[in-house]
Amino acid sequence: MKRFLIYITALLAVASCRNTESLVHNSILPLPSKVTAEKGKFTFGKDTRLEISADAESKRILSGVLEASPLTFSNSGSKSLILKIGDVQGIASPEGYRIEITPHAITATAKSGAGLFYAVQTILQSIDERGSVPAGTIVDEPRFAYRGLMLDVSRHFFGKEFIKKQIDAISHFKMNRLHLHLTDAAGWRIEIKKYPRLTQFAAWRSKPLWKDWWFGDRLYAEEGAPNAHGGYYTQDDIREIVKYAADRYVTIIPEIEMPAHSEEVLTAYPELSCTHEPYKQADFCAGNEKTYEFLENVLTEVMELFPSEYIHIGGDEAGKASWPSCPLCQKRMKEEGLSNVNELQSYLIQRIEKFVNSKGRQIIGWDEILDGGLAPNATVMSWRGTEGGLAAANSGHKAIMTPGGYCYLDSYQDAPHTQPMAFGPYMPLQKVYSYNPTEGLEEQQAKFIYGVQGNLWVEYIPTEELVEYMIYPRILAIAEIGWSNPAVRNYDAFSKRAVKAVDKLRAGGYNAFDLSREYGQRKEAARPANHLAKGKKVTYAASAPFNSKYNAGGDAALTDGIRGGWTYTDSKWQGFIKGGVDVVIDLEESRKISSVSADFMQMCIPDVWMPAEVTISVSDDGTAFTEIAKIRHEVTRDEGLSFKSFGWSGKAKARYIKYTAKCGPQKGWLFTDEIVVE
Ligand code: ACM
Repeated sequence: MKRFLIYITALLAVASCRNTESLVHNSILPLPSKVTAEKGKFTFGKDTRLEISADAESKRILSGVLEASPLTFSNSGSKSLILKIGDVQGIASPEGYRIEITPHAITATAKSGAGLFYAVQTILQSIDERGSVPAGTIVDEPRFAYRGLMLDVSRHFFGKEFIKKQIDAISHFKMNRLHLHLTDAAGWRIEIKKYPRLTQFAAWRSKPLWKDWWFGDRLYAEEGAPNAHGGYYTQDDIREIVKYAADRYVTIIPEIEMPAHSEEVLTAYPELSCTHEPYKQADFCAGNEKTYEFLENVLTEVMELFPSEYIHIGGDEAGKASWPSCPLCQKRMKEEGLSNVNELQSYLIQRIEKFVNSKGRQIIGWDEILDGGLAPNATVMSWRGTEGGLAAANSGHKAIMTPGGYCYLDSYQDAPHTQPMAFGPYMPLQKVYSYNPTEGLEEQQAKFIYGVQGNLWVEYIPTEELVEYMIYPRILAIAEIGWSNPAVRNYDAFSKRAVKAVDKLRAGGYNAFDLSREYGQRKEAARPANHLAKGKKVTYAASAPFNSKYNAGGDAALTDGIRGGWTYTDSKWQGFIKGGVDVVIDLEESRKISSVSADFMQMCIPDVWMPAEVTISVSDDGTAFTEIAKIRHEVTRDEGLSFKSFGWSGKAKARYIKYTAKCGPQKGWLFTDEIVVE
């Protein structure tokens, strides 16, 4: 919490605002439920007394928070900051609070220590440059019980001090879960006493950067060897992190991947895979009893370390490649009456759930745990979209919403050419903020939405600086989605508060993206393009249809004047997967033309490529075409996202224009947004 001392000092530099209500609204993030402004203000000073009336544990935590803040208190002052646990009228959540601010006292009341902690964050955020808080009343509670950040510490490892630093920040914005993705092919990150090879070997790899390792030899290394890169948390480290988090009302959710994403385990302990071959298998053998013994032993130690009610057991992206030919898997399927490998995965998850439940805990799994039958008490983390979460809610299971299109923070947050290389498409703060986890749900289903989470996978994010850059400020949007009433949320107002929060984060030593310098959307996408072919009919060759998922509005998309933005997922780019582009535009009459062009993009990770050859031809009868341009382009794999125009300029007269674009050797997708004819 010390870091917020710097935050508040930074606040002193921010211009003051005379209107009390707007001052409160301009500084509190996430937006509180209800603020009533009154005349006057409370000013902190040497004469402020602190009174905490709470159980000993809450008192210890809150005293610590205030001690680390810039506020100072006296024993016998004339003004008071009073924090007390008690009933709060009109508040349902145990995390809610009420603050009454008069010139003489600030009185915060909450049902729990967490509620008082959040009241303190609100007070700290409301203090102006003179140490004053405007008078009034704030009544506030979260919309969702679960408000999380997930950090992948497998693809690149980040030490405990860095984790604590992130706990400071997210708790300040009233987030209450940090989900650590502790195990994956790229490295096992938690000491398990019973299986020392997990940290003597599976936590270390031949290359420091994931991309060099993954696209290279993918070898693991012995701890201490000259080529060993990686790391892990000792059990003492874990206890320290868990305690640090608990002192900020953050629960750490540990994730132990199964049955897939487990190459590191299956190389350290090859007997746990179907073929017993190191370096060959990603999935545990679901037929072998040893697998269950291992997983239960690991989870036993994990549950001893993490008091969280919820333990994440992964479950995503299992290839199950060896299961159909594995005698033990086949035997298990026969014995258990399982008709396919999805049901075998479900058997494994349900068995693990039973074990976890027997220790009084619950499981969370990625939405693939729905396939083959959902474990009876499981909570689903919906990532492939919102469908998994909705399906879970429909069947009476809790769901945590973290759909890739809104909550995956490893995507570009600004114009790609201004940004470090990212894994996912353009997802600026505004896009994240536009997410509503219960949209389209009936009340009955909506009550199963347990919360929302931002996920940061770090395949391409090797440094602490870059982790913070990708998290902040987008996690603030997740914080507000998770806490505030959607009826009063408004992006323009939020972004002003977010700019201030970014200033404070940066002053506090966080490498947050500088929102005040956001470049924004692709300029072509800002307004409709007007050109000769706008609104004119486009005929697609039968051999080169557009893909129905990326149809951008259908037959009219390439001449509708609507230009695409920084991502092919914005419904404005038309996608072609097999035959490339092959279209004819009918201008309805013979016209003088001086240019024909179309933009394409390349992003190799999702298999989106530039064309290798573009041909432009013209005709007056729609049958006999004369080629006016052939553009060849060498398509090579690169990093990041790029855009390029393929066109012709000159003098011609024609009624019909034929535009074809062919894929290079990589095949994959072509995306274009408009064929512009001038
Ligand atoms: C995931 O992104 N594989 C959960």
